[in-house]
Amino acid sequence: MKKAVILGSGLSILNGVEPLESIPYASIPSWPVGKVKGHKGVLDKYEDLWVLRGRAHIYEGFSWEQACFPTKYLAENGIEELIITNAAGGINPDFEIGDLMQIKGYLNFMKPDNSCRLSRLTQSVSNIETKDISDEEVKQASTEDEITLHKGVYVGVHGPNYETHAEVALFREMGADAVGMSTIPELETANEHGLKVTAISVITNVYGKTLDLGHEGVVEVAKEASKKLVKLLGLE
Ligand code: HPA
Repeated sequence: MKKAVILGSGLSILNGVEPLESIPYASIPSWPVGKVKGHKGVLDKYEDLWVLRGRAHIYEGFSWEQACFPTKYLAENGIEELIITNAAGGINPDFEIGDLMQIKGYLNFMKPDNSCRLSRLTQSVSNIETKDISDEEVKQASTEDEITLHKGVYVGVHGPNYETHAEVALFREMGADAVGMSTIPELETANEHGLKVTAISVITNVYGKTLDLGHEGVVEVAKEASKKLVKLLGLE
């Protein structure tokens, strides 16, 4: 099964490994090229795995359709399994910096006027299907670093600003566990195209526990947490 991974801010895997082919996003027609720091902007092709090093965000001015394009491209080019990663702020007070969260549901506050679903009027947006990571898999991956994998609800916001305290309190009441500015376009497109999908947030800051790290701080935490992702996903 051909697999792809989309890497969020500061996240990296297979760093020292030479890809078979490294394609700059800018050379692929219609591919949206984001400019956020910590995103390399290349599609690296390994034998059985494609790695998307970075993504374009709606807050950078890209349309919903553009944000969905890379996932559509993957589906149309033979990818059957997709792992989506992102950096996110923890809203659940039980979360700690560096924890991971598998996304089991989401609230879409990114751009409510649109979505990647083809059949918008008939499908429930809550029905995302994801492939589960078991407790046993987490235990096996926790040999060097202890990995905490929560399962929870991701709220996607437009950004680029982080949330006010009042917004965080509201999102928590609504059932959200983590907040970020990406992933929903990819998740919806992957579901539309029948890809097997796993989405994981790296918790880079926790509301009420950590001070505002800013984007630089988020990238630093994400870099550190990449090791856990690599282990958990068996991508060494
Ligand atoms: N809010 C939104 N996006 C984020 C955050 C946050 O606190 N941390 C990392 N990405």
